[in-house]
Amino acid sequence: MAQLDDGFAARVQSDVPHAARIWNYWMGGKDNYAADRAAGDAVVRVYPEIAVMARESRGFLTRAVRYLADEAGVAQFLDIGTGLPTMQNTHEIAPDAGVVYVDNDPLVLVHARALLTGGEGRTTYLHADYHEPRRILAEAAAMLDFDRPVAAMFMGVLGYEPDLDAVRDIVATVVDALAPGSFLVLWDGTNTSPSVVAGADRLAESGGVPYVLRAPDELASCFAGLEPVEPGLVPITRWRPPIADAPAIDAYGAVARKP
Ligand SMILES: C[S@@+](CC[C@H](N)C(=O)[O-])C[C@H]1O[C@@H](n2cnc3c(N)ncnc32)[C@H](O)[C@@H]1O
Repeated sequence: MAQLDDGFAARVQSDVPHAARIWNYWMGGKDNYAADRAAGDAVVRVYPEIAVMARESRGFLTRAVRYLADEAGVAQFLDIGTGLPTMQNTHEIAPDAGVVYVDNDPLVLVHARALLTGGEGRTTYLHADYHEPRRILAEAAAMLDFDRPVAAMFMGVLGYEPDLDAVRDIVATVVDALAPGSFLVLWDGTNTSPSVVAGADRLAESGGVPYVLRAPDELASCFAGLEPVEPGLVPITRWRPPIADAPAIDAYGAVARKP
């Protein structure tokens, strides 16, 4: 774990399962405690595919950011709900881009300060809650030029907000602030199998922060008014996959362009 001061350490609550650390555990990371692993394992017992989902989500992020930076010419990214830094973080996939990371978790803040910021000054971190999108946009404007294309990313984070209308409002507020030629990148867990639904139930019962799985058409509604990039909203394993016939997964994602 990163070095923490005493006051901060008291707030970390290593004995309480923690969203970013459980995700880190499923991704195969080392920044997690026994309570996180116990909550994570409660889900694994009914939905072993969760670890595949966590790793595949990073594959989707990698392919989407690579497409945006290399093919679509996007040079600015706003990655909302960054999570604990693991492998292939956005600024590493698009090293020439300006990247603003946003998360509301103080633990992510500590790790991000150590790992994500600095370099050539093209990457920075905001400690903010996505329920305050206008604040995020105002603070991100210190680093990003909103008159030029920006890719706004919500990667496996919107299920923490149970109300779909609120989710749509958050996404729309961010997209409205972007210049034409900008992009929205979004993936989320979907309620597409009984076992993934059982896994979400176990997560809530184990004391982890509950996560709302959504139907694919609910996720599609977050892209209203945008032009989907091929192949549209699909299981993330099938978004420009590196192999043919990639198996489906209970997580859908898409990249879409603001006209
Ligand atoms: C499942 S992890 C996903 C991490 C990363 N986006 C990825 O693709 O691996 C969810 C992250 O969202 C963050 N998060 C949850 N609610 C948030 C909120 N209201 N505002 C900002 N970040 C939030 C958590 O702290 C956690 O780091």
